Amino acid sequence: MGTAVEASNQLNSFEGANVSSVEEKPTVVFVLGGPGSGKGTQCTNIVRQFGYTHLSVGDLLRAEAESGSENGTMIENMTKEGQIVPSEVTMTLLQRAMKQSGNDKFLIDGFPRNEENRAAFEHGTGIEPVFILFFDCPEEEMEKRLLCRNQGRKDDNIASIRKRFKVFLESSLPVLAYYDAKGKVCKIDAARPVEEVFESVKTIFEPNYV
Ligand code: ADP
Ligand code: C5P
Ligand code: MG
Repeated sequence: MGTAVEASNQLNSFEGANVSSVEEKPTVVFVLGGPGSGKGTQCTNIVRQFGYTHLSVGDLLRAEAESGSENGTMIENMTKEGQIVPSEVTMTLLQRAMKQSGNDKFLIDGFPRNEENRAAFEHGTGIEPVFILFFDCPEEEMEKRLLCRNQGRKDDNIASIRKRFKVFLESSLPVLAYYDAKGKVCKIDAARPVEEVFESVKTIFEPNYV
C-alpha cells in the first residue's frame, strides 16, 4: 500500500505536469471501501475543500432507476441483491455525468467495483487514475453504520448488507490488489471518527504536503 506522502506526490506531479498528453486527460481519483466505510461522507468533505466533482456510481444508478428508464427494474433488482450492474450501463451514466459537470477533477466513488468495471473504464476513457483512496473499515463497524444510515435505501437491510459484503470481498478486493501492485493504493483507517479520518484524507490532497 502506498503512503499518504507518495499519493500526494503522485497527485501533485500529475497536476503540475506540463506535458500535452496528460493535459488533456481529467484527474481521476477512485474512492473505494466496503459499504458503509464512509466514502460518501469523506467525498463531501474533499469537494468542499479541494474543488473536485464527486460522482458516486451508486447514486447515479439509483437516480437512473428512479427516473423510470428502461434499465430501471434491472438496476433495482441488482442493487437490492448487492450485485454489480453491467459496466455498459454504469459507464454510460458515468461518462455523461463527467461531461455534464464541466470539471476536470473527479472523485469516482464506489467504482471500479470489479475487474469488468476497471477494464471498461480503462478502455472507454483511456484515463489512468492518479491513485486509489481506500477506506479500510471492519465489517462489524460498517454494518452498524449501514443499519443506522436511515436514507431510505432498499439495500440497507441486514440481508442485502451481508450480500454486499460478500461481493466486496470477492469482486472489489481483487481490483484493489491490481492497483496495489502498481503502487497506487492509499489506505486510510476509516474506523475512526469522521473528523479524524478527514485529517488523514487532507494530507493527501493538500498540495504542499510533503
Ligand atoms: P459509504 O458511502 O462508504 O457507503 P457513507 O459515507 O454513506 O458510506 O457512511 C455510511 C453511514 O455511516 C452514514 O450514516 C454516515 O453518516 C456514517 N459515517 C460515515 N463515516 C463515519 C465515521 N467515520 N464514523 C461514524 N459514522 C460514520
Ligand atoms: O456505492 P453504493 O453502496 O452506493 O452502491 C450501491 C449499489 O450500487 C451496489 O451494491 C451495487 O449493486 C451498485 N453498484 C454497481 N456498480 C458500481 C457501483 C455500485 O452495480 N460500480
Ligand atoms: Mg456511498
